Amino acid sequence: MKQKIGLIGFGTVGRGISEILLDKKEYLKEKYGFEFDIVAVADFAYGNVYNPDGLDIPLMLEQAGKKEKFTKDLTNLNTIQLIKDSNVTVWCELTFTDLNTGGPAVDHVKAALSSGKHVVTSNKGPAALLYPEMKALADENGVKFLIEGTVCAGTPVINLADGPLAGCTISKIAGILNGTTNYMLSEMEKGMSYDEVLKIAQDLGYAEADPTGDVEGYDARGKVTILANIVMDAGIKITDVPCQGITNITPDDIDFAKKQGKRWKLIGSVEKKGDKVIASVAPEMVDISHPLAGVMGATNALTFTTDLLGDVTIVGPGAGKIETGFSILTDLLAIHRS
Ligand SMILES: NC(=O)c1ccc[n+]([C@@H]2O[C@H](COP(=O)([O-])OP(=O)(O)OC[C@H]3O[C@@H](n4cnc5c(N)ncnc54)[C@H](OP(=O)(O)O)[C@@H]3O)[C@@H](O)[C@H]2O)c1
Repeated sequence: MKQKIGLIGFGTVGRGISEILLDKKEYLKEKYGFEFDIVAVADFAYGNVYNPDGLDIPLMLEQAGKKEKFTKDLTNLNTIQLIKDSNVTVWCELTFTDLNTGGPAVDHVKAALSSGKHVVTSNKGPAALLYPEMKALADENGVKFLIEGTVCAGTPVINLADGPLAGCTISKIAGILNGTTNYMLSEMEKGMSYDEVLKIAQDLGYAEADPTGDVEGYDARGKVTILANIVMDAGIKITDVPCQGITNITPDDIDFAKKQGKRWKLIGSVEKKGDKVIASVAPEMVDISHPLAGVMGATNALTFTTDLLGDVTIVGPGAGKIETGFSILTDLLAIHRS
């Protein structure tokens, strides 16, 4: 069946997945029999467009690249109407993350799932705050709610647990879930202060003007909550997860760790203890011999502790246009293959 794809949000990730789908259209058809049209896009900045037979994506990428509004296939349907009334079979929810309320993404996801349309998303809001509810709604309507891109972008962590590691009991998942803070800790080892490093991270675009979500550990806490609920069925709320960021780490702390053959990392972890699941985010001194200690810069990494394989560590990008766009492709392919 030819999938009819809709995108809500045509920012970095929306354009990333559009470029990938354009570039790989023939390859995806030949290799996987995956055929699709992108038929709808809803975006605050560029407008809402709909063509049941397929949009002019090259033109839209050109216009968005110049920060111009869309001019072709404009529709008067608002986003919720478009979600429900278009011929879209799978919606990609790619608007901003709101880890307090879930933001408009919650309404988008609910509208799509309840009208029998699959949802794939890299938006942590609905996934971290409402995963069990959204999954139940998807099941009720016979569709999928897939969220690979919400943790470590396209680096396959949710799919790793669900696919290749299926059959293992996973007792612990711990690692580096926030690239910005890992970059900052890596740079502080070179002798710079927290404030100096934060300024460089902001200049490089790693940290936002308000860096709170990264440096206080809230972004990592959202991801930990997702892992706890999706991999370990923990049924926990984001506010149940104790969270400490890196703002109190000083150059003296960095030296202290170095002298002991260790390195500071902001570690998000989820661990089964008896019938409980304990989750947390906090800076930890990791032994230099551990695979996570060697992960420097804006890279993400997670170690899965399993009964049959011992520790399995995966290292890869945690952000980026194509890297996160790829997470959307993997979920689209998973729907196609199912
Ligand atoms: N970029 C990454 O590397 C990355 C990695 C992992 C996960 N994510 C997650 O993926 C999602 C998309 O990220 P992004 O980097 O593509 O964000 P982005 O560049 O800010 O793009 C979001 C787009 O959605 C539009 N938008 C906002 N609210 C909307 C609404 N209610 N209806 C329709 N459009 C709306 C925005 O328009 P305005 O600009 O006018 O608001 C913007 O064009 C976020 O939830 C993010 O946390 C991103």
